[in-house]
Amino acid sequence: MYPRRWELYLTLDILLLPLLVTSNQDTSQIVMSGSNVSLQISEIPKNFTHLTWLHTTKQKIVEWTLGETPNYFQSRFKDKVILDPESAVLHIKEVGKEENGIYLLRVLMQNGSEKERKITLKVIDPVPKPVIKIEKIQKLDDNCYLNLSCLTQNESVDYLWYRDSGPFSKELQRSVLEVIINPQNQSKFYTCQVSNPVSSKNDTLYFIPPCDLAQSSGVTQIADWLMFTVLTTLGLLFT
Ligand SMILES: *[C@@H]1O[C@H](CO)[C@@H](O)[C@H](O)[C@H]1NC(C)=O
Ligand SMILES: *[C@@H]1O[C@H](CO)[C@@H](O)[C@H](O)[C@H]1NC(C)=O
Ligand SMILES: *[C@@H]1O[C@H](CO)[C@@H](O)[C@H](O)[C@H]1NC(C)=O
Ligand SMILES: *[C@@H]1O[C@H](CO)[C@@H](O)[C@H](O)[C@H]1NC(C)=O
Ligand SMILES: *[C@@H]1O[C@H](CO)[C@@H](O)[C@H](O)[C@H]1NC(C)=O
Ligand SMILES: *[C@@H]1O[C@H](CO)[C@@H](O)[C@H](O)[C@H]1NC(C)=O
Ligand SMILES: *[C@@H]1O[C@H](CO)[C@@H](O)[C@H](O)[C@H]1NC(C)=O
Repeated sequence: MYPRRWELYLTLDILLLPLLVTSNQDTSQIVMSGSNVSLQISEIPKNFTHLTWLHTTKQKIVEWTLGETPNYFQSRFKDKVILDPESAVLHIKEVGKEENGIYLLRVLMQNGSEKERKITLKVIDPVPKPVIKIEKIQKLDDNCYLNLSCLTQNESVDYLWYRDSGPFSKELQRSVLEVIINPQNQSKFYTCQVSNPVSSKNDTLYFIPPCDLAQSSGVTQIADWLMFTVLTTLGLLFT
């Protein structure tokens, strides 16, 4: 495309290789799939005259030379990215799993030295909604033995169980909740919240303490609807 410039930079690249500084200020960023991401590298030197963004060392995304408009390379990034040459920030639209991996920013300074920075992007899906499954509910005098499991499609999530007085102790936080409830610490509901670094979702079981299942959230809606229907019907009968 620009044979002369191309040659020039090839030459420069080779010449400047010994000056290439790889810093230990490399960062990483975890984002939700589908989001818009800005790859930003702090502490890049001011007054660079040329920059290149790459995905791994193989795929050039965009390059820019002082006084010119950015040159986006033919790649699947072409219609997904916008470079802000002032700040060297690379904006990526609606990232997917394919955009995982290491991004490199190479900048060339006025004095001819080149710097390289790395940023690792990890794109992960939001957690799927969990469902609480009742493994066992057993009454023991005034107490109640509960065994509930929180089912998710992805096992690599963090679990957090709540009741009306707050979260359960740390030791109990795993996919299965096994507890003995007495009249002092009974609860009207049990919630399982699953989360990963980008999102969280929950499911709740409602109880009539200590041990009787009230309604799950879906059932609540049906119950509300039934109540509404009954009241409306009664209302119609009496008008
Ligand atoms: C991402 O940016 C595009 C415009 O570039 C916009 O249409 C879209 O709504 C944005 N998506 C999110 C999740 O912000
Ligand atoms: C960058 O360049 C401008 C003008 O070319 C100069 O005034 C400024 O001091 C330079 N900044 C650095 C950090 O070298
Ligand atoms: C070139 O300038 C940068 C700052 O803009 C400085 O960190 C670097 O040491 C300089 N390199 C040389 C070879 O003078
Ligand atoms: C509770 O349920 C889980 C899952 O089915 C099971 O592995 C575990 O053995 C049960 N605990 C008790 C004490 O029954
Ligand atoms: C499960 O979650 C982890 C990280 O939260 C992610 O890396 C992995 O791709 C997910 N697996 C599936 C099948 O979604
Ligand atoms: C409720 O209290 C009893 C006795 O103090 C205790 O053994 C039990 O573990 C408690 N259950 C929960 C869920 O905290
Ligand atoms: C459960 O999720 C809902 C939204 O789906 C949210 O409003 C609520 O705060 C969450 N509850 C807990 C205990 O995280």
